Amino acid sequence: MTHQSWNASQYIDHAAFVAELGVPLVALLNPSRGEKILDLGCGDGTLTMKIAQTGASVHGVDASESMIAAAASRGLSAEVCSGESLNFNNQFDAVFSNAALHWMTDYQAVIGGVHRALKPNGRFVGELGGLGNIAALIDAMERVFAQHDDFGQFKNPWFFPSAEVYQAALEQGGFRVSHIETIERPTPLKTGVREWLKLFANSVTQALSQDQKACFHEETEALLKPVLYSEQEGWIADYVRLRFAAFKV
Ligand SMILES: C[S@@+](CC[C@H](N)C(=O)[O-])C[C@H]1O[C@@H](n2cnc3c(N)ncnc32)[C@H](O)[C@@H]1O
Repeated sequence: MTHQSWNASQYIDHAAFVAELGVPLVALLNPSRGEKILDLGCGDGTLTMKIAQTGASVHGVDASESMIAAAASRGLSAEVCSGESLNFNNQFDAVFSNAALHWMTDYQAVIGGVHRALKPNGRFVGELGGLGNIAALIDAMERVFAQHDDFGQFKNPWFFPSAEVYQAALEQGGFRVSHIETIERPTPLKTGVREWLKLFANSVTQALSQDQKACFHEETEALLKPVLYSEQEGWIADYVRLRFAAFKV
């Protein structure tokens, strides 16, 4: 697992779009009253709450204490837990996950834990970054690292699989895939690319000093401006999503 740091209040200020754009995934999950659902990588619980409002009984897990504290403060059942070491057995009708699986690089361990957590024929419905997600952002970050020997090696913390790779992993993990699609989803960054870098790429810069971080943010933004920014639309990130639904065989 990479050393990410998530702060729930910064998340609400700069990343509310993540849950807003995850609403169609809740529709694909189609939760119903009385179902037991696990929200994997639930974050601050915005979508967990939407699922709970259908009458389903939802439990959220997330690796971040700050995020789990925010989810629990909404009255949700939630606990700190890594997605790679889920410890549930035959308990859930469905496992849901929005914008979290690409942080869990040991994806086979995650799929195994989800499979164990589900009841027979239970469903796994998720969306993660797909192949090519934030390619321009990653390219700019890599180029800035390459220009500064003192930054060390750029390490990509994300797992952005193709539909073929993820479908094969699900099938090997004991799932039947009923739906999988890659979706190009250019995503407005209302508070700008620097805030995105601070929030989502903090594991990339964790070993840098404050001055180095400031330099990284400034130079990455400058490289990206001709690519992702326009006067009319502001900053638009090059997001690609991978959305799927699969059933425990
Ligand atoms: C972009 S947020 C998405 C949160 C929420 N699902 C939403 O839609 O707003 C990603 C979340 O994944 C969590 N996460 C990252 N790596 C994780 C891991 N290995 N196990 C569990 N949660 C993890 C982070 O703590 C963060 O809350």
